[in-house]
Amino acid sequence: MNSSVLKIGHRGVKGHVAENTLPSIQRALKLGVDGVEIDVHRCASGELVVFHDFTLDRMTNGTGEISKFTYRELKKLKTKGNFEIPTLAQVLTLIDNKCLLNVELKGHDTAKEAARIIKFYVDKKGWEYKNFIISSFHEELLESVYEINKDIPLGVLTENNLDRAVSFAKTINAVSIHVNYTMLTEEIVEELKQNYKVFAFTVNNLNPLARIQSYGVDAIISDYPDRI
Ligand code: G3P
Ligand code: MG
Repeated sequence: MNSSVLKIGHRGVKGHVAENTLPSIQRALKLGVDGVEIDVHRCASGELVVFHDFTLDRMTNGTGEISKFTYRELKKLKTKGNFEIPTLAQVLTLIDNKCLLNVELKGHDTAKEAARIIKFYVDKKGWEYKNFIISSFHEELLESVYEINKDIPLGVLTENNLDRAVSFAKTINAVSIHVNYTMLTEEIVEELKQNYKVFAFTVNNLNPLARIQSYGVDAIISDYPDRI
């Protein structure tokens, strides 16, 4: 059993507090996670906002595409749990370098601003590049970050094509492959680990948690990181 697996809270700590909100991230920190995973979109006024879906409907009292709203408009909405949609900058201020931050680029045109913010926090706020990892299912977004700043650690997300993820990872010098845990076997983990860190998502129940941990993955992303 690998006891040094990193415990990463999914969307803050989705199992306990409304996903991708500051209170969710605060709870994750309280639970002693090693890292937090969040999703980001670019809103109409240019800020990166922390949100999973492309539309507001499931998680807020608003409706429509998140990218069409300015941050000032989004700030007026309430998420489930009665919170505000945070910006990436607010999340960084809250985490204050206390754990790893996995920023998943979800929405279009998020790469440049994510790279800019990360560089600013490294240059001005005492963070180190190794405190970050940018991941995405979208190859073009990861390629953009790689072109802008080769110091930012990159992770390739996959839930259906491991071979493609591995060959793409090589082209952007990725540090990790983030795999839907149902695709993993002990042999696959062993092979991936020869070149990459292996992050397994999203593992919530005790049975798969113990099994996936026993494969020796480097990190587990979970709605309930306290179960790991
Ligand atoms: O980063 C792992 C996981 O968050 C990817 O899936 O849909 O929950 O963002 P999703
Ligand atoms: Mg995500």
